[in-house]
Amino acid sequence: MNAYDIAKPLLFSLPAETAHTLGHGVVGLAGHTPVDRALAGHYAVDDPRLRVDALESTFPNPVGVAAGFDKNAEAVRGLAALGFGFVEVGGVTAVPQSGNQRPRMFRLRADDAVINRMGLNNDGAEAVGERLADLSAPVPVGVNIAKSEHVDTAGAPADYLATYEEVAAGGDFFVVNVSCPNSQGFEELQNREAMAAILTELQDAGAAPLLIKLSPDLPEPAVADTLDLVTELGLDGVVATNTSTERPDSLESPNRAETGGLSGAPIEARATEMTRFVAERVDVPVVGVGGVATAEDAYRKIRAGASLVQLYTAFLYRGPSIAREINLGLLDLLERDGFDSVEAAVGADLK
Ligand code: FNR
Repeated sequence: MNAYDIAKPLLFSLPAETAHTLGHGVVGLAGHTPVDRALAGHYAVDDPRLRVDALESTFPNPVGVAAGFDKNAEAVRGLAALGFGFVEVGGVTAVPQSGNQRPRMFRLRADDAVINRMGLNNDGAEAVGERLADLSAPVPVGVNIAKSEHVDTAGAPADYLATYEEVAAGGDFFVVNVSCPNSQGFEELQNREAMAAILTELQDAGAAPLLIKLSPDLPEPAVADTLDLVTELGLDGVVATNTSTERPDSLESPNRAETGGLSGAPIEARATEMTRFVAERVDVPVVGVGGVATAEDAYRKIRAGASLVQLYTAFLYRGPSIAREINLGLLDLLERDGFDSVEAAVGADLK
Protein backbone atom coordinates (compact mmCIF):
# COMPACT_ATOMS: atom_id res chain seq x y z
CA MET A 1 0.00 0.00 0.00
CA ASN A 2 1.45 3.41 -0.90
CA ALA A 3 0.58 6.80 0.58
CA TYR A 4 -1.92 7.54 -2.20
CA ASP A 5 -3.90 4.39 -1.37
CA ILE A 6 -4.54 6.03 2.00
CA ALA A 7 -5.08 9.58 0.71
CA LYS A 8 -7.33 8.61 -2.22
CA PRO A 9 -10.49 7.65 -0.28
CA LEU A 10 -10.17 10.93 1.63
CA LEU A 11 -9.65 12.98 -1.51
CA PHE A 12 -12.44 11.15 -3.35
CA SER A 13 -14.87 11.89 -0.52
CA LEU A 14 -14.50 15.58 -1.39
CA PRO A 15 -15.95 17.34 -4.42
CA ALA A 16 -13.58 16.87 -7.40
CA GLU A 17 -12.39 20.47 -7.55
CA THR A 18 -11.77 20.68 -3.77
CA ALA A 19 -9.70 17.48 -3.94
CA HIS A 20 -7.80 18.88 -6.90
CA THR A 21 -7.08 22.15 -5.08
CA LEU A 22 -5.83 20.23 -2.05
CA GLY A 23 -3.63 17.83 -4.04
CA HIS A 24 -2.31 20.63 -6.21
CA GLY A 25 -1.55 22.70 -3.09
CA VAL A 26 0.47 19.88 -1.51
CA VAL A 27 2.48 19.34 -4.70
CA GLY A 28 3.03 23.10 -4.99
CA LEU A 29 4.24 23.39 -1.41
CA ALA A 30 6.54 20.39 -1.66
CA GLY A 31 8.24 21.97 -4.65
CA HIS A 32 9.29 24.96 -2.60
CA THR A 33 10.91 23.12 0.30
CA PRO A 34 13.89 20.72 0.50
CA VAL A 35 11.28 17.93 0.29
CA ASP A 36 11.43 18.29 -3.49
CA ARG A 37 14.89 16.72 -3.62
CA ALA A 38 13.75 13.77 -1.51
CA LEU A 39 10.70 13.37 -3.76
CA ALA A 40 12.80 13.53 -6.91
CA GLY A 41 15.10 10.87 -5.47
CA HIS A 42 12.07 8.65 -5.01
CA TYR A 43 10.00 9.39 -8.11
CA ALA A 44 12.26 10.63 -10.92
CA VAL A 45 13.54 8.02 -13.36
CA ASP A 46 16.88 9.20 -14.69
CA ASP A 47 17.73 7.20 -17.79
CA PRO A 48 19.21 8.53 -21.04
CA ARG A 49 16.90 6.26 -23.07
CA LEU A 50 13.94 8.34 -21.91
CA ARG A 51 15.44 11.65 -22.98
CA VAL A 52 13.75 13.50 -25.85
CA ASP A 53 15.25 16.40 -27.80
CA ALA A 54 12.38 18.36 -29.30
CA LEU A 55 10.93 21.87 -29.45
CA GLU A 56 14.39 23.34 -28.81
CA SER A 57 14.56 21.70 -25.36
CA THR A 58 15.86 18.50 -23.82
CA PHE A 59 13.08 16.68 -21.97
CA PRO A 60 14.39 14.29 -19.26
CA ASN A 61 11.50 11.96 -20.12
CA PRO A 62 8.47 12.12 -22.43
CA VAL A 63 5.74 12.15 -19.74
CA GLY A 64 4.35 15.63 -19.09
CA VAL A 65 1.51 17.24 -17.17
CA ALA A 66 -1.28 18.46 -19.47
CA ALA A 67 -2.70 21.99 -19.39
CA GLY A 68 -5.31 22.72 -16.75
CA PHE A 69 -3.66 20.97 -13.82
CA ASP A 70 -1.30 23.82 -12.95
CA LYS A 71 -3.22 26.74 -14.42
CA ASN A 72 -1.26 29.39 -12.55
CA ALA A 73 2.27 27.94 -12.58
CA GLU A 74 2.34 27.24 -8.85
CA ALA A 75 3.36 23.59 -8.83
CA VAL A 76 5.95 23.18 -11.59
CA ARG A 77 8.82 22.33 -9.24
CA GLY A 78 6.71 19.86 -7.26
CA LEU A 79 5.50 18.16 -10.45
CA ALA A 80 9.09 17.88 -11.72
CA ALA A 81 10.00 16.31 -8.37
CA LEU A 82 7.27 13.71 -8.95
CA GLY A 83 9.15 12.68 -12.08
CA PHE A 84 7.24 14.46 -14.83
CA GLY A 85 9.45 15.39 -17.79
CA PHE A 86 7.69 18.69 -18.48
CA VAL A 87 4.71 20.77 -17.44
CA GLU A 88 2.28 22.75 -19.60
CA VAL A 89 0.90 25.51 -17.38
CA GLY A 90 -2.30 27.43 -18.07
CA GLY A 91 -4.65 27.98 -19.86
CA VAL A 92 -3.74 31.55 -19.25
CA THR A 93 -5.79 34.51 -20.43
CA ALA A 94 -4.87 38.18 -20.73
CA VAL A 95 -6.93 39.14 -17.71
CA PRO A 96 -7.78 37.16 -14.55
CA GLN A 97 -10.96 35.07 -14.86
CA SER A 98 -13.05 33.32 -12.23
CA GLY A 99 -14.45 30.71 -14.61
CA ASN A 100 -17.89 29.10 -14.45
CA GLN A 101 -20.03 28.56 -11.38
CA ARG A 102 -19.23 25.56 -9.19
CA PRO A 103 -19.59 22.66 -9.31
CA ARG A 104 -17.72 22.51 -12.62
CA MET A 105 -15.53 19.41 -12.35
CA PHE A 106 -16.99 15.91 -12.05
CA ARG A 107 -15.51 12.47 -11.55
CA LEU A 108 -16.83 9.60 -13.64
CA ARG A 109 -15.28 6.92 -11.46
CA ALA A 110 -16.69 3.87 -13.21
CA ASP A 111 -15.27 5.23 -16.47
CA ASP A 112 -11.84 6.47 -15.28
CA ALA A 113 -12.90 9.83 -16.64
CA VAL A 114 -13.63 13.42 -15.71
CA ILE A 115 -16.02 16.01 -17.14
CA ASN A 116 -15.06 19.64 -16.58
CA ARG A 117 -16.50 22.99 -17.48
CA MET A 118 -14.04 25.10 -15.50
CA GLY A 119 -14.28 27.93 -18.05
CA LEU A 120 -10.62 28.96 -17.95
CA ASN A 121 -10.38 30.21 -14.39
CA ASN A 122 -6.86 31.61 -13.93
CA ASP A 123 -4.90 34.43 -12.30
CA GLY A 124 -4.25 36.21 -15.62
CA ALA A 125 -1.12 36.61 -17.71
CA GLU A 126 0.66 39.18 -15.58
CA ALA A 127 0.54 37.10 -12.38
CA VAL A 128 1.43 33.86 -14.17
CA GLY A 129 4.24 35.62 -16.05
CA GLU A 130 5.74 36.87 -12.79
CA ARG A 131 5.56 33.41 -11.24
CA LEU A 132 7.22 31.85 -14.28
CA ALA A 133 10.02 34.43 -14.19
CA ASP A 134 10.88 33.42 -10.61
CA LEU A 135 10.73 29.71 -11.24
CA SER A 136 14.07 28.41 -12.56
CA ALA A 137 12.18 25.25 -13.52
CA PRO A 138 14.10 21.98 -13.56
CA VAL A 139 12.10 20.73 -16.60
CA PRO A 140 10.82 22.42 -19.77
CA VAL A 141 7.69 24.51 -19.24
CA GLY A 142 5.05 25.08 -21.88
CA VAL A 143 2.49 27.85 -21.57
CA ASN A 144 -1.05 27.22 -22.80
CA ILE A 145 -2.56 30.48 -24.04
CA ALA A 146 -6.32 30.91 -24.35
CA LYS A 147 -8.78 33.59 -25.38
CA SER A 148 -10.22 35.86 -22.70
CA GLU A 149 -13.93 35.39 -22.20
CA HIS A 150 -15.04 38.91 -23.09
CA VAL A 151 -13.09 39.03 -26.38
CA ASP A 152 -14.68 38.21 -29.77
CA THR A 153 -13.02 36.47 -32.70
CA ALA A 154 -11.90 39.76 -34.27
CA GLY A 155 -10.19 40.77 -31.04
CA ALA A 156 -8.61 37.36 -30.45
CA PRO A 157 -5.19 37.98 -32.09
CA ALA A 158 -4.50 41.06 -29.92
CA ASP A 159 -5.79 39.20 -26.86
CA TYR A 160 -3.49 36.17 -27.40
CA LEU A 161 -0.61 38.56 -28.10
CA ALA A 162 -1.17 40.44 -24.82
CA THR A 163 -0.95 37.16 -22.92
CA TYR A 164 2.10 35.98 -24.83
CA GLU A 165 4.00 39.17 -24.05
CA GLU A 166 3.50 38.65 -20.31
CA VAL A 167 4.58 35.00 -20.28
CA ALA A 168 7.17 35.05 -23.08
CA ALA A 169 10.26 35.14 -20.87
CA GLY A 170 9.16 32.25 -18.66
CA GLY A 171 8.06 29.66 -21.23
CA ASP A 172 10.10 27.13 -23.20
CA PHE A 173 7.26 26.59 -25.69
CA PHE A 174 3.82 28.05 -26.27
CA VAL A 175 0.57 26.28 -27.04
CA VAL A 176 -2.30 28.10 -28.70
CA ASN A 177 -5.48 26.70 -27.29
CA VAL A 178 -8.29 27.08 -29.80
CA SER A 179 -10.08 23.96 -28.64
CA CYS A 180 -11.50 24.72 -25.20
CA PRO A 181 -15.10 23.44 -25.12
CA ASN A 182 -15.93 25.38 -21.96
CA SER A 183 -15.60 29.02 -22.84
CA GLN A 184 -17.61 31.18 -25.17
CA GLY A 185 -16.57 31.68 -28.78
CA PHE A 186 -14.00 28.90 -29.07
CA GLU A 187 -15.77 27.12 -31.89
CA GLU A 188 -15.32 30.07 -34.20
CA LEU A 189 -11.60 30.15 -33.48
CA GLN A 190 -11.17 26.79 -35.14
CA ASN A 191 -11.86 28.13 -38.58
CA ARG A 192 -8.85 28.66 -40.77
CA GLU A 193 -8.81 32.46 -41.05
CA ALA A 194 -9.33 32.98 -37.34
CA MET A 195 -6.54 30.58 -36.48
CA ALA A 196 -4.17 32.04 -39.07
CA ALA A 197 -4.72 35.55 -37.71
CA ILE A 198 -3.89 34.49 -34.15
CA LEU A 199 -0.90 32.38 -35.11
CA THR A 200 0.73 34.96 -37.38
CA GLU A 201 0.28 37.65 -34.74
CA LEU A 202 2.15 35.45 -32.25
CA GLN A 203 4.83 34.45 -34.75
CA ASP A 204 5.44 38.10 -35.65
CA ALA A 205 6.02 38.74 -31.95
CA GLY A 206 8.64 35.98 -31.88
CA ALA A 207 6.60 33.25 -30.17
CA ALA A 208 8.57 30.01 -30.62
CA PRO A 209 8.38 27.11 -30.46
CA LEU A 210 4.70 27.60 -31.22
CA LEU A 211 2.21 24.72 -31.13
CA ILE A 212 -1.52 24.42 -31.69
CA LYS A 213 -3.84 22.26 -29.57
CA LEU A 214 -6.64 20.44 -31.35
CA SER A 215 -10.06 19.21 -30.30
CA PRO A 216 -10.75 15.47 -30.61
CA ASP A 217 -14.19 16.41 -31.96
CA LEU A 218 -12.91 18.07 -35.13
CA PRO A 219 -13.92 16.08 -38.20
CA GLU A 220 -11.02 14.81 -40.34
CA PRO A 221 -11.37 17.38 -43.16
CA ALA A 222 -11.15 20.19 -40.61
CA VAL A 223 -8.09 18.60 -39.01
CA ALA A 224 -6.48 18.23 -42.44
CA ASP A 225 -7.22 21.89 -43.13
CA THR A 226 -5.63 22.92 -39.83
CA LEU A 227 -2.59 20.79 -40.58
CA ASP A 228 -2.16 22.55 -43.93
CA LEU A 229 -1.99 25.75 -41.92
CA VAL A 230 0.62 24.22 -39.59
CA THR A 231 2.81 23.54 -42.62
CA GLU A 232 2.10 26.83 -44.38
CA LEU A 233 2.90 28.94 -41.34
CA GLY A 234 5.80 26.76 -40.23
CA LEU A 235 4.40 26.03 -36.79
CA ASP A 236 6.62 23.97 -34.52
CA GLY A 237 4.26 21.30 -33.19
CA VAL A 238 0.75 20.01 -32.55
CA VAL A 239 -0.91 18.93 -29.30
CA ALA A 240 -3.57 16.25 -29.82
CA THR A 241 -5.99 16.41 -28.06
CA ASN A 242 -8.12 18.53 -25.77
CA THR A 243 -11.27 17.24 -24.00
CA SER A 244 -14.34 16.03 -25.92
CA THR A 245 -17.94 17.19 -25.87
CA GLU A 246 -19.04 13.79 -27.15
CA ARG A 247 -20.45 11.17 -24.80
CA PRO A 248 -19.66 7.61 -25.86
CA ASP A 249 -22.48 5.09 -25.17
CA SER A 250 -20.04 3.13 -23.00
CA LEU A 251 -20.12 5.73 -20.19
CA GLU A 252 -21.65 4.31 -17.01
CA SER A 253 -21.28 7.04 -14.39
CA PRO A 254 -24.32 9.17 -13.54
CA ASN A 255 -22.15 12.26 -14.06
CA ARG A 256 -22.00 11.50 -17.80
CA ALA A 257 -24.99 13.85 -18.12
CA GLU A 258 -22.95 16.87 -16.98
CA THR A 259 -22.06 19.51 -19.56
CA GLY A 260 -18.39 20.05 -20.34
CA GLY A 261 -15.28 18.39 -21.74
CA LEU A 262 -14.77 14.67 -21.24
CA SER A 263 -11.23 13.45 -20.49
CA GLY A 264 -9.56 10.22 -19.43
CA ALA A 265 -9.96 6.61 -20.58
CA PRO A 266 -13.00 7.16 -22.86
CA ILE A 267 -11.03 9.52 -25.15
CA GLU A 268 -7.82 7.47 -25.22
CA ALA A 269 -8.45 5.70 -28.53
CA ARG A 270 -9.69 8.83 -30.28
CA ALA A 271 -6.70 10.88 -29.11
CA THR A 272 -4.29 8.18 -30.28
CA GLU A 273 -6.05 8.00 -33.65
CA MET A 274 -5.72 11.77 -33.96
CA THR A 275 -2.04 11.62 -32.96
CA ARG A 276 -1.51 9.17 -35.79
CA PHE A 277 -3.52 11.26 -38.27
CA VAL A 278 -1.43 14.34 -37.41
CA ALA A 279 1.94 12.54 -37.40
CA GLU A 280 1.21 11.08 -40.83
CA ARG A 281 0.57 14.51 -42.28
CA VAL A 282 3.01 16.97 -40.74
CA ASP A 283 6.69 16.87 -40.08
CA VAL A 284 6.73 18.48 -36.63
CA PRO A 285 6.64 16.97 -33.12
CA VAL A 286 3.24 15.79 -31.91
CA VAL A 287 2.36 15.87 -28.21
CA GLY A 288 -0.09 13.02 -27.59
CA VAL A 289 -2.63 13.60 -24.83
CA GLY A 290 -5.93 11.98 -23.89
CA GLY A 291 -6.46 9.00 -21.62
CA VAL A 292 -2.82 8.17 -20.93
CA ALA A 293 -2.83 6.19 -17.67
CA THR A 294 -0.24 3.43 -18.13
CA ALA A 295 3.08 2.81 -19.86
CA GLU A 296 1.19 0.87 -22.54
CA ASP A 297 -1.05 3.88 -23.22
CA ALA A 298 1.97 6.19 -23.48
CA TYR A 299 3.82 3.73 -25.69
CA ARG A 300 0.83 3.40 -28.04
CA LYS A 301 0.81 7.17 -28.54
CA ILE A 302 4.59 7.24 -29.04
CA ARG A 303 4.42 4.45 -31.64
CA ALA A 304 1.56 6.35 -33.30
CA GLY A 305 3.88 9.33 -33.72
CA ALA A 306 3.92 11.28 -30.45
CA SER A 307 7.36 12.60 -29.48
CA LEU A 308 5.98 13.51 -26.06
CA VAL A 309 2.85 12.58 -24.10
CA GLN A 310 0.86 14.34 -21.41
CA LEU A 311 -1.80 13.41 -18.91
CA TYR A 312 -4.16 14.98 -16.41
CA THR A 313 -7.13 12.73 -15.57
CA ALA A 314 -5.12 9.60 -14.75
CA PHE A 315 -3.03 11.62 -12.29
CA LEU A 316 -6.20 12.09 -10.21
CA TYR A 317 -7.01 8.38 -10.27
CA ARG A 318 -3.52 6.92 -9.92
CA GLY A 319 -1.72 9.47 -7.77
CA PRO A 320 1.79 10.84 -7.47
CA SER A 321 3.69 7.75 -8.64
CA ILE A 322 2.14 7.81 -12.12
CA ALA A 323 5.08 9.40 -13.97
CA ARG A 324 7.50 6.96 -12.34
CA GLU A 325 5.31 3.95 -13.21
CA ILE A 326 4.95 5.06 -16.83
CA ASN A 327 8.64 5.81 -17.26
CA LEU A 328 9.76 2.49 -15.75
CA GLY A 329 7.17 0.67 -17.86
CA LEU A 330 8.32 2.46 -20.99
CA LEU A 331 11.89 1.28 -20.41
CA ASP A 332 10.60 -2.33 -20.23
CA LEU A 333 8.54 -1.91 -23.40
CA LEU A 334 11.47 -0.37 -25.30
CA GLU A 335 13.70 -3.25 -24.25
CA ARG A 336 11.06 -5.84 -25.19
CA ASP A 337 10.76 -4.40 -28.69
CA GLY A 338 14.45 -3.72 -29.29
CA PHE A 339 14.38 0.09 -29.30
CA ASP A 340 17.38 1.77 -27.71
CA SER A 341 15.44 4.96 -26.81
CA VAL A 342 12.01 6.56 -26.76
CA GLU A 343 13.04 8.61 -29.76
CA ALA A 344 13.74 5.43 -31.74
CA ALA A 345 10.15 4.26 -31.10
CA VAL A 346 8.41 7.48 -32.15
CA GLY A 347 6.16 6.70 -35.10
CA ALA A 348 7.10 2.99 -35.22
CA ASP A 349 3.51 2.13 -36.14
CA LEU A 350 3.22 4.66 -38.96
CA LYS A 351 3.22 3.51 -42.56
C1 FNR B 1 -8.25 20.44 -18.86
N1 FNR B 1 -7.64 20.59 -20.12
C2 FNR B 1 -7.24 21.85 -20.53
N2 FNR B 1 -6.65 22.01 -21.76
C3 FNR B 1 -6.23 23.22 -22.18
O1 FNR B 1 -5.70 23.33 -23.30
N3 FNR B 1 -6.38 24.33 -21.37
C4 FNR B 1 -6.95 24.24 -20.12
O2 FNR B 1 -7.05 25.24 -19.41
C5 FNR B 1 -7.42 22.96 -19.68
N4 FNR B 1 -8.06 22.82 -18.48
C6 FNR B 1 -8.46 21.57 -18.05
C7 FNR B 1 -9.07 21.43 -16.80
C8 FNR B 1 -9.48 20.16 -16.36
C9 FNR B 1 -10.14 20.03 -15.01
C10 FNR B 1 -9.23 19.02 -17.18
C11 FNR B 1 -9.63 17.63 -16.70
C12 FNR B 1 -8.63 19.16 -18.40
C13 FNR B 1 -7.46 19.44 -21.04
C14 FNR B 1 -6.20 18.65 -20.74
O3 FNR B 1 -5.05 19.44 -20.94
C15 FNR B 1 -6.11 17.41 -21.67
O4 FNR B 1 -6.01 17.85 -23.01
C16 FNR B 1 -7.32 16.49 -21.54
O5 FNR B 1 -7.76 16.43 -20.20
C17 FNR B 1 -7.03 15.07 -22.02
O6 FNR B 1 -6.03 14.47 -21.22
P1 FNR B 1 -6.36 13.41 -20.03
O7 FNR B 1 -6.98 14.21 -18.94
O8 FNR B 1 -7.29 12.40 -20.61
O9 FNR B 1 -5.03 12.85 -19.62
